[in-house]
Amino acid sequence: MSHEPIILFEGKLIDTREKQPSVALEERGLQFGDGVYEVIRLYNGTFHLLDPHLARLYRSMEEIEITPTFSKAELIHWLYELTEQNNFKTDGIIYLQISRGVQPRNHIFSLDLTPTLYAYIVPKERPVKLMAEGIHACTEQDIRWLRCDVKSLNLLPNVLARTNAERKGCQEALFIRKSIVTEGSLSNFFLVKNNILYTHPADHLILNGIVRQYVLSLASKLHIPVREELFGVRDVQLADEGFFTGTTIEVLPMTHLDGSPIAGGHVGPITKALQKAFQDNIPIQEKRSRLV
Ligand code: PDD
Repeated sequence: MSHEPIILFEGKLIDTREKQPSVALEERGLQFGDGVYEVIRLYNGTFHLLDPHLARLYRSMEEIEITPTFSKAELIHWLYELTEQNNFKTDGIIYLQISRGVQPRNHIFSLDLTPTLYAYIVPKERPVKLMAEGIHACTEQDIRWLRCDVKSLNLLPNVLARTNAERKGCQEALFIRKSIVTEGSLSNFFLVKNNILYTHPADHLILNGIVRQYVLSLASKLHIPVREELFGVRDVQLADEGFFTGTTIEVLPMTHLDGSPIAGGHVGPITKALQKAFQDNIPIQEKRSRLV
């Protein structure tokens, strides 16, 4: 089992060693990818950036007209119960999915469905080796829809791009739309040029990553100037530094793009400064105080 045994399923905690959850065939998440999700970090069993993840989850639901049948306080309570009942005290992630619910297959959705909710914990170490050494990335065409700001279950373009990149020996795909660099297949992208940090604006063409926003706040504290502007592949090739951000990868340096080194293929000083600031703020002690 890759995940912790006790899972959250439709408002209840289930021990999967005793009982498996069952999902209806006509669940719209299965048939249409009609739903949204979040991946939330746990460090030493403690939630990291939980509030902004939940804010984005509620925004994603609102954007596709899913009305939750539970309150945010209830959801937070269930998530804390999930970590406590699994006695989870190490590093991991929570995968949380909310899909529209069950309905006889029909492209038109009913407004009175009960959303299907589930969440589970996967132990996951910090990618310390990759963070120290950096990764190779490959460019892939960004063929996604025009609402990438919604964290929807429809990940087929991301899945195909990431798999294609892997086959070419790369650890992440860098999406290009009309010669503009948007983001990674499961991450946001930043470059550094002349000590200025650049990243794609948080519009409908990227997911506004929680770690992206957090890194922007760390940059501001470190007095690193930031520009949320469009840039192309050539700008990345000529950059002083490049890195990806995301819940599972933190601040992950990109040393090579399509086989060519970026600025000599070393991890740069601004990337290292942001990694250090990130690491210094990781919760080290299990907090038992609840938000609600
Ligand atoms: N992916 N962009 C895309 C397309 C993503 O899928 C993700 C996260 C990010 C980074 O967002 P955040 O900083 O909130 O993790 C950006 C998650 C981790 C995933 O699908 O596994």
